[in-house]
Amino acid sequence: MIVLGIETSCDDTGVAVYSSEKGLLSNVVSSQVSLHSQWGGVYPDLAAREHTKNILPVLDTALKEADISLKDVDGIAITVAPGLIVSLVVGISGAKGLSWATGKPLIPVHHIEAHIFAIFIEKEIPFPFLSLVVSGGHTEMYLVKGFGEYIYLGGTLDDAVGEAYDKVARMLGLGYPGGPVIDKLAKEGEEVIKFPRPLVGEKGKNRFNFSFSGLKSAVLRAVETGKYKKEDIAKSFQEAVVDTLVSKSLDALRETGVNRIVVAGGVSANSRLRERFNEVAEREGIQVYFPPMYLCTDNGGMVAYTGYRRFRELGQTMDYRFEGKARLRMDRFAQLLKG
Ligand code: KG4
Ligand code: ZN
Repeated sequence: MIVLGIETSCDDTGVAVYSSEKGLLSNVVSSQVSLHSQWGGVYPDLAAREHTKNILPVLDTALKEADISLKDVDGIAITVAPGLIVSLVVGISGAKGLSWATGKPLIPVHHIEAHIFAIFIEKEIPFPFLSLVVSGGHTEMYLVKGFGEYIYLGGTLDDAVGEAYDKVARMLGLGYPGGPVIDKLAKEGEEVIKFPRPLVGEKGKNRFNFSFSGLKSAVLRAVETGKYKKEDIAKSFQEAVVDTLVSKSLDALRETGVNRIVVAGGVSANSRLRERFNEVAEREGIQVYFPPMYLCTDNGGMVAYTGYRRFRELGQTMDYRFEGKARLRMDRFAQLLKG
């Protein structure tokens, strides 16, 4: 089976071709980073305009690189939620048009689900597993019992982790996206400030929830004193973030009795997060999985693959009236499709 995957939920236009026999045949991403860097974040109207401009050239390149034409495709997978609604609708409208013109089924994909299952393109992981999704727009933890069977454990009450990275980078004048720059700069710094580890050790309703806005404000206050070197602030901030993510994941692993975790989303590219998770995994006897770097940030490959599984395992497609949704939890999305 050959599935075309389209991703336009935020600022990257991604189109890819996945073959169940041969794997990823192409995975083309047109990034808008240089455009948004002047704003220090994603500017929705600009993002939507760029998707409109790029989607067909990216599709064309993806088909050429895969050496196929549209008629060879068996299904069209599209990210329908969550994301910036103005960005989502560009991809959804494009995919609907392609489906209508070719008669190929349209397969809905949830962005978080695509991040989690990206790693399966290279490696099969046994169920059940815990998943921590950390990106520019999301910070969520789920128990994944099978494909399409998700239990929500918790998420951020305010900023997403990647968003906190991007905002801290802006405070330090480091540009956008902030994650990779802070990751690199932190290697030269020391943890001179012990920033708070938000909601760590919580036992009540926030046990598996996250909150990064207080940490962000604490960093801002430190920056404003003018006393600290940028690399030390970067290191101190990153240690607080990584500590928080690792501790809360460990707590969730113990509570659910699961010994495997998939860490996904743009922030899963972070070198310190990988290092700490690997250390803990060895000590605690758990298995930790990260997607390969090229599948961490937004791309069409993860959408094509996840769409392929949704169609093959659950036979689910969407009709032309299906709308994109800016907010929709992954467990609720799976329920909605079951009907
Ligand atoms: O998954 P993604 O491409 O888009 C969303 O779905 O949001 O994630 C982008 C986010 C950005 O906030 C970026 O700063 C962050 O991932 N990121 C990183 C690293 N690489 C990307 N954060 C920390 N360390 C990194 N190495
Ligand atoms: Zn993403």
